[in-house]
Amino acid sequence: MKIAPFRIEQYFALHEFTAPHLLSSSDAECVSIADILALEPDAADQLFSQQLGYTQSAGAPDLRAAASAIYRTTTAHDIVVVSAAEEGIFAAYHALLQPGDHVVVETPCYESALQVARSTGANVTEWRRSADANWAHDLAALERAFRPNTRLIYINTPHNPTGLMMPREVLDRVIKLCAARNAWLFCDEVYRELEHDPATLLPAAVDLYERAISLGSMSKTYGLPGLRLGWLASHDHDALTKIINFKHYTTICSSAPSELLSALALRHRHVFADRNRAIVLANLALIDAFLVRHANRLSWVRPTAGTIGFMRVAGVKDTSAFCEQLIADAGVLLLPGTVYDEPTHFRIGYGRTSMPKSLRHFEAWLEKNS
Ligand SMILES: Cc1ncc(COP(=O)(O)O)c(C=O)c1O
Repeated sequence: MKIAPFRIEQYFALHEFTAPHLLSSSDAECVSIADILALEPDAADQLFSQQLGYTQSAGAPDLRAAASAIYRTTTAHDIVVVSAAEEGIFAAYHALLQPGDHVVVETPCYESALQVARSTGANVTEWRRSADANWAHDLAALERAFRPNTRLIYINTPHNPTGLMMPREVLDRVIKLCAARNAWLFCDEVYRELEHDPATLLPAAVDLYERAISLGSMSKTYGLPGLRLGWLASHDHDALTKIINFKHYTTICSSAPSELLSALALRHRHVFADRNRAIVLANLALIDAFLVRHANRLSWVRPTAGTIGFMRVAGVKDTSAFCEQLIADAGVLLLPGTVYDEPTHFRIGYGRTSMPKSLRHFEAWLEKNS
């Protein structure tokens, strides 16, 4: 298997643990193990007595049940636990695709969605959204992208890096196109339940289409990436079995303490989502005011969900140098859009309580360099 370097993760590996001011993180504010254990009276005892044996490949039954409660139509049997969404992407693509298959991937995207698809030997067509169209979904382009051998389409809503949600009518049309070809719809929903207005929650793909696979994670909305735990939800049990068979070659099963803590956190997931939404909304108000002050240089399509957004820098053709200079001068980490093949943009994160301070450092640097 050949796979291209994962530019987003490479960039973070270089800077995430040294830059003092993180301003592009996609995970919401995290909490400690003690905070999670405080959610239920006997939780600490359960953790201390947890046997450190292998766990079930499909995931612990109570964890699968807690994850299935996120959706309208699923039970624990429709859930397979993975070691975070990243394993879900890897295992789903490799289990379901073979060389010669055709895949459509919505881009720009979290890069593994594109590169792992390519690494299977499948032919990949990008369904590319454009900043010039305000990131609107071009359904005519999607129809043109489909081929008779299209096996799977990957979409991501809420979206990394724009923080926008797919409109319901677009999702319905995507499902119709998949259904006409009996194709799988692989829907990355790791930012779901962090809609800035909870009333705008889009139905999960698994609740709308028999061959949909919804991807969820503890990492983003709930702010618990250190658990390294995610899940795939689908009514297509043949697909889930293929994924479990593939997982036997990656991790076999997930970490027992992570499963216990994840099940506990998911039973109280609204505590995390509500807390993180409050952080996001307070931070967004600061960014709104900041953008008014810097309207001559910076702009975005205001995100509607999640913890990240994508800003365009006027007059800058490649934001790599801009971001490198910002880290060197002010210690502020933004993610250059070059890692998404969108060099006029950078990704900003607003899911952390440290965001106001990081934004102040960014603004001081901008003012010095205007
Ligand atoms: C859209 C998307 N999918 C998947 C992932 C991977 O998440 P996890 O930490 O659960 O592996 C990320 C992480 O940034 C993401 O943004």
